[in-house]
Amino acid sequence: MNNIQKDLSYAEGLANSCKDLQGLELTIRSFDRCLLKNTANNIVFSDGNPNADLMLIGEAPGFEEDQSGIPFVGIAGQLLDKMLLAIGQNRNNTYITNMVFWRPPGNRKPTEEEISLCYPFVKKHIELINPKILILSGAVAAQSILKSNLGITRLRGNWSKISFLKNGEYTYIMPIFHPAYLLRSPEKKKETWEDLKSIKKKLTSTDI
Ligand code: URA
Repeated sequence: MNNIQKDLSYAEGLANSCKDLQGLELTIRSFDRCLLKNTANNIVFSDGNPNADLMLIGEAPGFEEDQSGIPFVGIAGQLLDKMLLAIGQNRNNTYITNMVFWRPPGNRKPTEEEISLCYPFVKKHIELINPKILILSGAVAAQSILKSNLGITRLRGNWSKISFLKNGEYTYIMPIFHPAYLLRSPEKKKETWEDLKSIKKKLTSTDI
């Protein structure tokens, strides 16, 4: 086993031993194998309602999130709040987190290794929240959770379902464009509105 494999299996062991959210947060706080931690000011664990039917996973904390320790509070986060509000959702009925828990320096994309090291904790996070619907915001979250190499343009708008728990219960999954991308490419808001409407329909349908 090389060092990365050892770190991955260490992360998996730690994540598997977490029985509740508080334990998961404390475990991630003391996890020292993801080097992003060394350059970050804060861990950014989550925000919102842990009992929510809807969970959203973004990419990584940015500057404002690193300062505050709260996900999606910068300009992209403000757009995300507006998107959620448009379908009757907010941080009281939605749970929000990211694929990595520390800000990558200069807001660069997290590396494969950083994502892999955080992945066991993200998986446990989903298991503990056990949402009915999971929104994957942006390519990093969509490709990592769906284990796909397809671009977000191909992935968005398509429902899939995964059973994160051994009891066979399903979570419905919808990838959408990341709000930071929508700020750069506002013409894509139209497609995102269709995705948001589809999420609202699913949230209020009886088959979830
Ligand atoms: N972008 C993300 O993906 N997550 C955040 O928390 C903030 C910006």
